[in-house]
Amino acid sequence: MADQAAGVVAPANEEAVRAWDTVLYERWKKNRKVFVGALGEITEELFQRFPPPEGGRCIDIGCGFGETTQRLSELVGPDGFVLGTDSSKHFVEDARREAAEAGVENVEFELSDAQTARWDQTYDYAFSRMGTQFFAMPVQAMRAIRGALVPGGALCKICWRRKDESPMWAETERVVERFLSRPEQYEADTCGPGPFSLGNPETTRGILEAAGFDRIDLRSRDFDYYLGADIDETLDAMLAIGPGAELIRLNGELGESRRDEIAAALAEHLSAWRQPDGSIVGRGSVWFVTATNPG
Ligand SMILES: C[S@@+](CC[C@H](N)C(=O)[O-])C[C@H]1O[C@@H](n2cnc3c(N)ncnc32)[C@H](O)[C@@H]1O
Repeated sequence: MADQAAGVVAPANEEAVRAWDTVLYERWKKNRKVFVGALGEITEELFQRFPPPEGGRCIDIGCGFGETTQRLSELVGPDGFVLGTDSSKHFVEDARREAAEAGVENVEFELSDAQTARWDQTYDYAFSRMGTQFFAMPVQAMRAIRGALVPGGALCKICWRRKDESPMWAETERVVERFLSRPEQYEADTCGPGPFSLGNPETTRGILEAAGFDRIDLRSRDFDYYLGADIDETLDAMLAIGPGAELIRLNGELGESRRDEIAAALAEHLSAWRQPDGSIVGRGSVWFVTATNPG
């Protein structure tokens, strides 16, 4: 567990943490089936390739609703332990409740900003799925995560590659851009550096090197991203989270006033990705990132 720094948010992260605890939490929760479900297969693949040690201690950074925390708890087995951490109170409350309802005993959840946390150096394996892209000071945060790992402990994480590598994000944004542009000023909170901040492999490698990791490896993985059972579910998801959705949100009332036209144009564009069963499947691209704490 983290020490007294738990729950303290770095001033530079306040806006992103607030966004994730309010509007983005609500939207992630509403569209959870898509956002979490779509990543299930590649997450399992990563766990197969880089499994946590049986009986080991894991930490899950930016754990959201804790699906991966619970899965890690199965993988380490009853003698192991997993700490799920997130800077959003709402995500942590849900994760805690769901794990208790599922009767999972070897997990705990903690509210902490990874950038200010000071965890005991007792973990064998640090995991994160899409939880490390939002730090204002990523080196500081990754140093804190490395500090939780015993010497030889492993980091294993998934993050988006560059936006243009994922047609589902890039093309959705381009459709929205036919109607809206990014306003110079806006009142909405944003999620800081954003989901694609680690897309450049040299950036990601440089951050991890500066944070003291070694044996850094990035593998790209392109995959089919399930966007929804039908066009309505897909539109709900793609206009809730992601670069196209953010463009609408940052435009405030103007963005909302154009939502119906955007949805119609997007429905037409995405119909090219319709499967025989009516579901919509796009393409996404992530990095599987692994590294080691040399000690
Ligand atoms: C894209 S969601 C991913 C959630 C989960 N890992 C999953 O795959 O479903 C990003 C998560 O990172 C969390 N997060 C954002 N900034 C954070 C920070 N500074 N420290 C810890 N967690 C953070 C958010 O609250 C959110 O739960």
